[in-house]
Amino acid sequence: MDNAVNFKTLVNKFYKNIVSSNEVDNSNYHSHLNEVIKSLSNDLEKNLNYIYSYQPVCRFLDSCINNIPEEFYGFENSIRNIKTQLNWQINNNYKKIFSKDFFYNESFVEIIGPNGLLISPNIRVGLLLLGEKVFYPSHNHKALEFYSILSGKSMWQQNNDSFEQKEPGDNIFHDMWVPHAMETTGEPALALFSWSGDITDEAVPI
Ligand SMILES: [Fe+2]
Repeated sequence: MDNAVNFKTLVNKFYKNIVSSNEVDNSNYHSHLNEVIKSLSNDLEKNLNYIYSYQPVCRFLDSCINNIPEEFYGFENSIRNIKTQLNWQINNNYKKIFSKDFFYNESFVEIIGPNGLLISPNIRVGLLLLGEKVFYPSHNHKALEFYSILSGKSMWQQNNDSFEQKEPGDNIFHDMWVPHAMETTGEPALALFSWSGDITDEAVPI
Protein backbone atom coordinates (compact mmCIF):
# COMPACT_ATOMS: atom_id res chain seq x y z
CA MET A 1 0.00 0.00 0.00
CA ASP A 2 1.13 3.55 -0.72
CA ASN A 3 2.73 5.18 2.37
CA ALA A 4 0.31 8.12 2.46
CA VAL A 5 -2.72 5.86 2.08
CA ASN A 6 -1.31 3.63 4.82
CA PHE A 7 -1.08 6.65 7.14
CA LYS A 8 -4.68 7.68 6.30
CA THR A 9 -5.97 4.18 6.98
CA LEU A 10 -4.12 4.06 10.28
CA VAL A 11 -5.47 7.41 11.52
CA ASN A 12 -8.98 6.40 10.50
CA LYS A 13 -8.74 3.16 12.48
CA PHE A 14 -7.17 4.99 15.45
CA TYR A 15 -9.98 7.59 15.54
CA LYS A 16 -12.74 4.98 15.21
CA ASN A 17 -11.27 3.25 18.23
CA ILE A 18 -11.26 6.50 20.23
CA VAL A 19 -14.90 7.21 19.33
CA SER A 20 -16.01 3.76 20.41
CA SER A 21 -14.16 3.82 23.72
CA ASN A 22 -15.03 7.16 25.33
CA GLU A 23 -17.95 9.08 26.75
CA VAL A 24 -16.92 12.72 26.44
CA ASP A 25 -19.96 15.00 26.76
CA ASN A 26 -19.20 17.66 24.15
CA SER A 27 -21.03 17.84 20.82
CA ASN A 28 -18.18 19.66 19.06
CA TYR A 29 -15.79 16.94 20.17
CA HIS A 30 -18.00 14.25 18.62
CA SER A 31 -18.72 16.19 15.45
CA HIS A 32 -14.99 16.75 15.04
CA LEU A 33 -14.05 13.08 15.36
CA ASN A 34 -16.92 12.03 13.08
CA GLU A 35 -15.98 14.61 10.45
CA VAL A 36 -12.37 13.39 10.42
CA ILE A 37 -13.45 9.74 10.20
CA LYS A 38 -15.89 10.52 7.38
CA SER A 39 -13.26 12.43 5.40
CA LEU A 40 -10.60 9.76 5.92
CA SER A 41 -13.00 7.07 4.70
CA ASN A 42 -12.91 8.63 1.20
CA ASP A 43 -10.34 7.82 -1.45
CA LEU A 44 -8.16 10.93 -1.47
CA GLU A 45 -6.24 12.29 -4.40
CA LYS A 46 -2.45 12.49 -4.15
CA ASN A 47 -1.06 16.04 -4.24
CA LEU A 48 1.57 16.09 -6.98
CA ASN A 49 2.79 19.54 -5.89
CA TYR A 50 3.58 18.45 -2.32
CA ILE A 51 7.29 18.80 -1.57
CA TYR A 52 9.61 17.76 1.22
CA SER A 53 10.66 20.54 3.56
CA TYR A 54 12.95 20.41 6.61
CA GLN A 55 12.83 22.56 9.75
CA PRO A 56 15.51 22.65 12.47
CA VAL A 57 13.35 20.73 14.98
CA CYS A 58 13.38 17.75 12.60
CA ARG A 59 16.69 16.86 14.27
CA PHE A 60 14.44 15.27 16.94
CA LEU A 61 12.18 13.36 14.56
CA ASP A 62 14.04 10.05 14.53
CA SER A 63 14.29 9.84 18.31
CA CYS A 64 10.59 10.69 18.62
CA ILE A 65 9.65 8.00 16.08
CA ASN A 66 11.81 5.46 17.94
CA ASN A 67 9.98 6.30 21.18
CA ILE A 68 6.44 5.72 19.85
CA PRO A 69 5.02 2.86 21.93
CA GLU A 70 4.36 -0.31 19.96
CA GLU A 71 0.66 -0.39 20.74
CA PHE A 72 -0.06 2.68 18.60
CA TYR A 73 -1.47 0.93 15.54
CA GLY A 74 1.78 0.95 13.65
CA PHE A 75 2.35 4.72 13.78
CA GLU A 76 6.06 4.11 14.31
CA ASN A 77 6.44 2.28 10.99
CA SER A 78 3.96 4.45 9.16
CA ILE A 79 5.69 7.73 10.07
CA ARG A 80 9.12 6.24 9.42
CA ASN A 81 7.97 5.22 5.93
CA ILE A 82 6.58 8.65 5.13
CA LYS A 83 9.18 10.90 6.78
CA THR A 84 11.24 11.64 3.66
CA GLN A 85 8.14 13.13 2.00
CA LEU A 86 6.95 15.48 4.74
CA ASN A 87 6.52 19.21 4.22
CA TRP A 88 7.47 20.61 7.68
CA GLN A 89 6.32 24.18 8.17
CA ILE A 90 6.22 27.09 10.57
CA ASN A 91 3.22 29.34 11.13
CA ASN A 92 3.82 32.76 9.55
CA ASN A 93 1.46 34.40 12.09
CA TYR A 94 4.12 33.76 14.76
CA LYS A 95 6.98 35.42 12.89
CA LYS A 96 8.40 38.51 14.62
CA ILE A 97 6.32 37.61 17.72
CA PHE A 98 7.68 34.31 19.01
CA SER A 99 11.38 33.92 19.79
CA LYS A 100 14.07 32.60 17.46
CA ASP A 101 14.40 29.66 19.87
CA PHE A 102 10.76 28.74 19.24
CA PHE A 103 11.30 28.38 15.49
CA TYR A 104 14.35 26.25 16.18
CA ASN A 105 12.22 23.90 18.28
CA GLU A 106 8.74 23.70 16.76
CA SER A 107 7.25 22.66 13.46
CA PHE A 108 4.11 21.04 12.08
CA VAL A 109 3.30 19.14 8.94
CA GLU A 110 -0.01 18.77 7.12
CA ILE A 111 -0.15 15.24 5.70
CA ILE A 112 -3.85 15.18 4.80
CA GLY A 113 -5.70 18.40 4.02
CA PRO A 114 -6.20 21.10 1.39
CA ASN A 115 -2.40 21.31 0.99
CA GLY A 116 -1.50 17.83 2.24
CA LEU A 117 0.19 14.91 0.58
CA LEU A 118 -3.35 13.56 0.27
CA ILE A 119 -5.90 16.22 -0.61
CA SER A 120 -8.94 16.63 1.65
CA PRO A 121 -10.83 19.94 1.53
CA ASN A 122 -12.63 19.73 4.91
CA ILE A 123 -10.05 18.56 7.40
CA ARG A 124 -6.36 18.70 8.19
CA VAL A 125 -4.40 15.82 9.71
CA GLY A 126 -0.72 15.97 10.49
CA LEU A 127 2.04 15.99 13.08
CA LEU A 128 3.37 18.49 15.59
CA LEU A 129 7.01 18.17 16.62
CA LEU A 130 8.40 19.95 19.69
CA GLY A 131 12.07 20.04 20.67
CA GLU A 132 13.28 18.90 24.08
CA LYS A 133 12.96 22.26 25.82
CA VAL A 134 10.54 24.69 24.25
CA PHE A 135 7.63 26.84 25.34
CA TYR A 136 4.82 27.19 22.78
CA PRO A 137 2.99 30.31 23.97
CA SER A 138 -0.78 30.56 24.15
CA HIS A 139 -2.55 30.74 20.79
CA ASN A 140 -5.94 29.94 19.32
CA HIS A 141 -7.88 29.30 16.10
CA LYS A 142 -11.43 28.85 14.96
CA ALA A 143 -10.91 25.24 13.83
CA LEU A 144 -11.76 22.38 16.18
CA GLU A 145 -8.60 20.50 17.05
CA PHE A 146 -7.76 17.09 18.42
CA TYR A 147 -4.27 16.02 19.48
CA SER A 148 -3.06 12.51 20.28
CA ILE A 149 0.34 12.25 21.93
CA LEU A 150 2.49 9.70 20.11
CA SER A 151 5.88 10.22 21.74
CA GLY A 152 7.45 12.00 24.72
CA LYS A 153 6.09 13.64 27.85
CA SER A 154 4.98 17.26 27.49
CA MET A 155 2.91 19.86 29.35
CA TRP A 156 -0.39 21.17 27.94
CA GLN A 157 -2.60 24.08 29.03
CA GLN A 158 -6.05 25.36 28.02
CA ASN A 159 -7.30 28.84 28.92
CA ASN A 160 -5.57 29.83 32.18
CA ASP A 161 -5.79 26.38 33.74
CA SER A 162 -2.71 24.68 35.19
CA PHE A 163 -0.44 22.84 32.77
CA GLU A 164 -1.05 19.08 32.72
CA GLN A 165 1.49 16.46 31.74
CA LYS A 166 0.49 14.43 28.68
CA GLU A 167 2.13 11.28 27.37
CA PRO A 168 1.50 8.66 24.67
CA GLY A 169 -2.09 7.50 24.94
CA ASP A 170 -3.39 10.92 26.00
CA ASN A 171 -5.74 12.89 23.75
CA ILE A 172 -6.50 16.61 23.94
CA PHE A 173 -9.47 18.43 22.38
CA HIS A 174 -9.40 22.19 21.72
CA ASP A 175 -12.80 23.71 21.09
CA MET A 176 -13.26 26.74 18.83
CA TRP A 177 -11.04 29.69 19.84
CA VAL A 178 -9.96 28.09 23.14
CA PRO A 179 -6.47 29.41 23.99
CA HIS A 180 -3.87 26.69 24.46
CA ALA A 181 -0.15 26.47 25.21
CA MET A 182 2.41 23.66 25.39
CA GLU A 183 5.82 23.12 26.91
CA THR A 184 8.52 20.47 26.84
CA THR A 185 10.94 20.25 29.72
CA GLY A 186 13.60 17.69 28.83
CA GLU A 187 12.37 15.44 26.05
CA PRO A 188 11.03 16.10 22.56
CA ALA A 189 7.41 15.35 21.78
CA LEU A 190 5.52 14.18 18.71
CA ALA A 191 1.74 14.47 18.43
CA LEU A 192 -0.86 13.65 15.82
CA PHE A 193 -3.28 16.52 15.20
CA SER A 194 -6.50 17.00 13.28
CA TRP A 195 -8.56 20.07 12.42
CA SER A 196 -12.16 20.38 11.28
CA GLY A 197 -14.68 23.20 10.91
CA ASP A 198 -13.15 26.48 9.76
CA ILE A 199 -9.71 25.17 8.80
CA THR A 200 -8.66 28.01 6.51
CA ASP A 201 -6.93 30.33 8.99
CA GLU A 202 -3.78 29.35 10.86
CA ALA A 203 -3.52 29.83 14.63
CA VAL A 204 -2.82 33.31 16.00
CA PRO A 205 -0.91 34.24 19.17
CA ILE A 206 -3.06 35.40 22.08
FE1 LIG B 1 -4.09 24.44 18.18
